[in-house]
Amino acid sequence: MGEHVGSRPTIAVIGGTGKEGSGLALRWAYCGYEVLIGSRDAERAAEKADELNQALGKPALRGMDNASAAAAADLVVLTVPYQAHQPILESIKGATQGKILVDVTVPLQPPAIRTVHIPEGKAAALEAQALLGPDVRVVAAFQNISHTHLKGLGDPVDSDVFMASDDDEAKHEVARLVAAIPGMRAIDIGPLANSIAAEALTPVILYINKRYKAPGAGIRITGLDA
Ligand SMILES: NC(=O)c1ccc[n+]([C@@H]2O[C@H](COP(=O)([O-])OP(=O)(O)OC[C@H]3O[C@@H](n4cnc5c(N)ncnc54)[C@H](OP(=O)(O)O)[C@@H]3O)[C@@H](O)[C@H]2O)c1
Repeated sequence: MGEHVGSRPTIAVIGGTGKEGSGLALRWAYCGYEVLIGSRDAERAAEKADELNQALGKPALRGMDNASAAAAADLVVLTVPYQAHQPILESIKGATQGKILVDVTVPLQPPAIRTVHIPEGKAAALEAQALLGPDVRVVAAFQNISHTHLKGLGDPVDSDVFMASDDDEAKHEVARLVAAIPGMRAIDIGPLANSIAAEALTPVILYINKRYKAPGAGIRITGLDA
């Protein structure tokens, strides 16, 4: 791992101008992480960083283009629509080598966003690992956390977070990011192949939200001590 062992990694959120990415970025910045907002457009990233800094009341975030953000970070979080997943990964491939990449992407297929869609590579996170190569440790996580819960800075998020990866140390690092957000609990769900199940849960949750008029249902695993 890099120089941040034992300290807090600098986090780049690729697609951090969007709903999920900006919510996660805000939460991590709130609890002391240095966060870089990545965008295809550096100006848009800077504007979003300004907006989030104002909400925070401190200059904890900076905005830049996606590749620069990935290059300047210790750990990279990817929050882009599935349709943009491959091109965005190609644009940050070089900058992510040797790092952890947390893939939040869900392979939804609009307009049928409440029906499970299994992509060609079986999961977005598996496709990311195949594209980035073995020197990037991909962790699939946060796909089941609705952005609606991330805006209220101090509010607890009543949800478990599934983490799938072939690298235990990387999962340990991501568990720290989960624990930094009050209410969330990290659950190790095994190898990266199990991200298929975590990603497939999101359209199911979107269906539940509509069926029961819920603003943002979450998941909890019962029967665990911790
Ligand atoms: N929203 C949620 O509650 C939620 C929950 C769990 C998982 N997710 C997953 O997280 C990912 C992001 O979701 P989101 O709701 O944050 O999406 P979003 O608001 O649409 O934002 C995604 C960001 O991705 C960037 N992007 C790059 N290429 C793009 C393209 N071709 N078209 C549109 N945007 C593009 C955009 O940033 P720039 O234009 O600045 O580059 C945009 O701000 C998705 O895979 C989604 O399934 C979302």
